[in-house]
Amino acid sequence: MIKAGVIGHPIAHSLSPALHGFWLNQYRIEGEYKAYDISPHALPDFMTSLKENQMAGCNVTIPHKTSVMAYLDEIDEMSAAIGAVNTIIVRGGKLHGTNTDAYGFIENISPHLRGKHKAVVLGAGGASRAVCYGLAQAGFQEIIVTNRTYDAVANLSAPFRPVPWEERSASLANADLLVNTTSLGMIGKPSLAIDLAALPVSALVTDIVYNPLMTPLLNEAKARGNRVVDGLGMLLHQAAAGFEAWFGRKPEVTNALREHILAS
Ligand code: ATR
Repeated sequence: MIKAGVIGHPIAHSLSPALHGFWLNQYRIEGEYKAYDISPHALPDFMTSLKENQMAGCNVTIPHKTSVMAYLDEIDEMSAAIGAVNTIIVRGGKLHGTNTDAYGFIENISPHLRGKHKAVVLGAGGASRAVCYGLAQAGFQEIIVTNRTYDAVANLSAPFRPVPWEERSASLANADLLVNTTSLGMIGKPSLAIDLAALPVSALVTDIVYNPLMTPLLNEAKARGNRVVDGLGMLLHQAAAGFEAWFGRKPEVTNALREHILAS
């Protein structure tokens, strides 16, 4: 029995067990994927037990994505650049860390993307760093990053360009892509205040928030004729790389999977 899971705190609402469970079932793999509620206090012990419990590895979510890095034997270049690990693979008794969020983000939007001249990214937290890394890798020429706290973006250099939060609406001119990486628009949070008037109707709009699936930003963009992609696909695509590493089969992201997750 191959064992994997996800660690976080809190973890009860994680969709990852349903997601990996669907694939284990679909491919008839004898495996287990469980959610582990690990407080920051319990993290050192869990990291030790990861090898001892003969787990193939685990996903890592809030609040451990950065702190977990100190316990790993190896961290790939991408995780180091993003400053966070979301996937751990146990190999030869060693813990390897990687980050599949940038890949998941790009996979989710690629089929819908027309141009790669200019992207506007709202927010500068952990999710933004993965999104920005993915956009630079994908070949975007100009990536505007705008954040409420300007200090977090002030030192960015090409292809990134910092823009004050007050200028976010004006910065949308000529953009091919608008991405919300802030928590604004999530159920229970304030909605995102932005004027889309300057955004070309040909631009793609995406939100990493998937709760609700159609955020106020996506609804407004869709109503004015923009193509929109919700954030659930990023979650599904980022999970695929870990599944393949642990269970030995590259899983497919299908509509059936999406429906299963939405119903769970
Ligand atoms: P994550 O790691 O999931 O990206 P985070 O690091 O807490 O989460 O980042 C949240 C992002 O949402 C930040 O860019 C934050 O802006 P600040 O750096 O100014 O805190 C942004 N954010 C959260 N609440 C906001 C609000 N009310 N208005 C504007 N931006 C907000």
